[in-house]
Amino acid sequence: MKIGVFDSGVGGLSVVQSLVEHQLFEEIIYFGDTARVPYGVKDKNTIIRYALEAVEFFKNFDIDLLITACNTVSAYALDEMREYSQFDIVGVVQPGIIATENALRSFESEILIIGTQATIASQAYEKPLQAYGFTNITSKATGLFVPMVEENIYDGPLLHAAMDHYFHDLKTPDAIILGCTHFPLIANAITRYFKHHATMIHSGEAIVQYLQQHYDIDQQFNTTELKFFASENPEGLKKVARKWLAL
Ligand code: DGL
Repeated sequence: MKIGVFDSGVGGLSVVQSLVEHQLFEEIIYFGDTARVPYGVKDKNTIIRYALEAVEFFKNFDIDLLITACNTVSAYALDEMREYSQFDIVGVVQPGIIATENALRSFESEILIIGTQATIASQAYEKPLQAYGFTNITSKATGLFVPMVEENIYDGPLLHAAMDHYFHDLKTPDAIILGCTHFPLIANAITRYFKHHATMIHSGEAIVQYLQQHYDIDQQFNTTELKFFASENPEGLKKVARKWLAL
């Protein structure tokens, strides 16, 4: 299977990392819309327009499946993207919801959803989890974490101050949905902040489980060929890829 991975910028590399670790695919074509990131502060119509342009980009390649690593795009644009493409499209929100349901034993469990402003406003995680029966859900837009990760801040006083700003009045959650591509990189710091009590729901891991269950993936590939494209500064994207994916 040859697949595409789309993200608003470099963050989707955290999803690529999981796909490569699990050796699911022979070839991955990554496109990051680095010229227009962040998507998480934009409105629905703009997010859909950009997502459809990404679909156009991937039409140049003979892909079997497009993974939308970006939570913001997954929350707003999947239906429209599917309408305009001949390949299958999978987002990260549904796999994240399934992973959360599987991780929790009680409907009274405390769930914390964190993501961009747009993802949280969409209630794309919250509504299905409520419909499933979960009653204690808190959603928080934690946009400051995005530029911090972009600045390679994965720990330390600045991040701690931001976590305090967002989390100081929260009950300790049983599960935290890392509803943004960038957040797996600060998952350790968040885990420590909540004193190791919360299960982390990571988009990359959730989508690997989802793909294994829903697609005919019975082969493992020792190497995955990776091709990186960006709407601006592709060298910058490749540099982050080398670092995050230890290439
Ligand atoms: N990729 C985005 C997401 O997962 C985060 C960065 C952005 O705002 O574009 O929601």
